[in-house]
Amino acid sequence: MIRTRQLTKRYGSNAVLRGVDLDAAAGEFVVVLGQSGAGKSTLLRCMNRLATADSGELQIDGIDAMQYGDTRALRRKVAMIFQHHHVVPRLTALKNVLTGRLGSVSVLGSCLHLFRRQDIALAHDCLARVGLAHKAHERTDALSGGQMQRVGIARALAQRPRVILADEPVASLDPHTARTVLQYLREASRALGITVVCNLHQVDYAREFGDRIVGLAQGRVVFDGRPDALTAADIDRIYLQPVDSASTGRAQPAAPVALSTALGV
Ligand SMILES: Nc1ncnc2c1ncn2[C@@H]1O[C@H](COP(=O)(O)OP(=O)(O)OP(=O)(O)O)[C@@H](O)[C@H]1O
Ligand SMILES: [Mg+2]
Repeated sequence: MIRTRQLTKRYGSNAVLRGVDLDAAAGEFVVVLGQSGAGKSTLLRCMNRLATADSGELQIDGIDAMQYGDTRALRRKVAMIFQHHHVVPRLTALKNVLTGRLGSVSVLGSCLHLFRRQDIALAHDCLARVGLAHKAHERTDALSGGQMQRVGIARALAQRPRVILADEPVASLDPHTARTVLQYLREASRALGITVVCNLHQVDYAREFGDRIVGLAQGRVVFDGRPDALTAADIDRIYLQPVDSASTGRAQPAAPVALSTALGV
């Protein structure tokens, strides 16, 4: 479903992705872990062609995503969810979800907010999948942060994507709400066979929700495996990278206490 080989991306002299190999099967929930600046968002942006990788292979659901010509076809297959939900506050939850269908209605129809009956039924179904059927006709500014993020997930589902790329979708939520949101996302992806690549900062959420974890450090994959295979040493490899030693040629001194010990994981 998703296959990258030796994907590279550089911003000026900053080599952000340094040969990333990643595979994600249909319906698989892959969590990407890595410290700030490791390249997690850049990887997702390259997958959706919001950024263009410099070299390597990138295939998404059979599309060669390195080719410019296929960007529109790619965007129909790939939905994104961000930390801040980007819902429109004055619209109802249902209308927000229907905006996920805008790519499939006519320009006139979208201006007039005219949606086909099957789109409205689909939007209701997507809201039900995130436990918000009863909130369909409420304005989203009357919802909680976690509920707004679930509206964002429902909107992504309404695109009928093959892939959802989620960039720290629960970063601004309390632990209970974060788990609820991740639970809904995982259940929907399993039920609908949607591949999810989800950037997270929390190792415990990665263990709980990931079918697979990919650890990124300085633009390289340093772990790729099932959550139960992730050891304390792997966590240290992901989070205790010397600061840009590859580009300066100098390794920074290692932190005195292993991060996995400090975190108690
Ligand atoms: N548009 C850009 N122009 C220049 N540099 C960029 C751009 N986007 C990202 N970078 C650089 O790429 C590196 C990786 O950034 P990225 O946002 O992918 O990291 P991240 O792993 O998502 O970090 P975080 O956990 O803080 O979100 C950083 O050094 C960043 O400054
Ligand atoms: Mg990021």
